[in-house]
Amino acid sequence: VDQPWTEAHCRRVAALACEIARRLQVPLDPVCDAALAHHLSGPCLTGNGLDRLLNDLRNLNVAIVSAPHPSPSDARVESIIEVAHAFEQGLEFSPYEPRSASEILEEIAALGFDPAAVQALRSIAVSAPPVPPKLAAYPSVLFKALALLRKDNTTFSDIESLVRSDQVMASSLLSVANAALYAPLTPIKSIGRAVAHIGVETAKKVLVAAAARPLFASSRLRGLWQHSTEVATVAERLARAKGVADPAEAFVAGLIHDIGRLATESLGRETVEAHHRIADDAQCVVVADMAVLGCDHGAFGARVIGNWGVPSDLVSTVEFHHRPELTDSVMSKLIYLAEFISESDEDIPSVVRLKIGMNALRMATMSELFEQNSNDRRVASLLALAG
Ligand SMILES: [Fe+2]
Ligand SMILES: [Fe+2]
Ligand SMILES: [Fe+2]
Repeated sequence: VDQPWTEAHCRRVAALACEIARRLQVPLDPVCDAALAHHLSGPCLTGNGLDRLLNDLRNLNVAIVSAPHPSPSDARVESIIEVAHAFEQGLEFSPYEPRSASEILEEIAALGFDPAAVQALRSIAVSAPPVPPKLAAYPSVLFKALALLRKDNTTFSDIESLVRSDQVMASSLLSVANAALYAPLTPIKSIGRAVAHIGVETAKKVLVAAAARPLFASSRLRGLWQHSTEVATVAERLARAKGVADPAEAFVAGLIHDIGRLATESLGRETVEAHHRIADDAQCVVVADMAVLGCDHGAFGARVIGNWGVPSDLVSTVEFHHRPELTDSVMSKLIYLAEFISESDEDIPSVVRLKIGMNALRMATMSELFEQNSNDRRVASLLALAG
């Protein structure tokens, strides 16, 4: 199969294999090297899943080549890679055959692989489903900002009364209004001039972003915050352009879609470290989620915000934003596409899921997805200043 696709697959297998080896106290380097190279000599996928995957790739005009298969000299190394590989394949085929992490593990256990390696894979997962940590209380000011965002015909005094209730709001509006993109001739120091300069609609978005910002307080989460503002901006544009969802709700859904990633950072130190190792090595957050949390960060995030009192459709948007095939929610599909456009590489790329998203938004071509995306980036980096 073509080079980038294969390399990404090998990276995911290697990340899982290394984590298994670590638990079995087997030296990591030979496992990692063999896993990364396991396709140098040939494709290793089998069965119906392979046929469907190859078919999708052919439809995308992806070149498919075959090569001989490797055989690691060390049987222990081989058995670790086999188990890691089986788990990765389970994840890779989940758009076709939805299965939970524990179902994939059960299937692997039944396949007769080395029991010690299977047990080591199991032990990567937290023993009980992780309790969603308490994040900074869902700020009441965010509720007010959301109400403002949803309201048509917002007036200047609506904005002013909200801004008066929160210092951070005022400074966010001023910093955005004074940003280079809006190039004021003289520095803007009043809320009135700030709103007049950037417009009521942008001001509303700045306020919602400023209200959500405290959730991303730690410096480690700065990248996630910028990603969230980008997904929010893309989601709003898609909703408006396609008329399939409310743009204001799409913006909010984009802003909090990865709340599960944020919550994962608050789990126990060993859990977080294992998650970082797998996510970094695999360059794929969802693989780490499934191995460590037993579910993806969408499902985990839905549990976090489930008791915030937010609308249930927002909860299910968050829950299914990486599994759009399992829901009727158009917003989940829209956020799935916004993730793809933002190139966040959180999940294993899936042609079938992209098609589901594009059908829901009545999109005919891939190029349609990326129209105006450079403008999204500029707007998003501006909103990231908020707070
Ligand atoms: Fe493979
Ligand atoms: Fe994301
Ligand atoms: Fe995500």
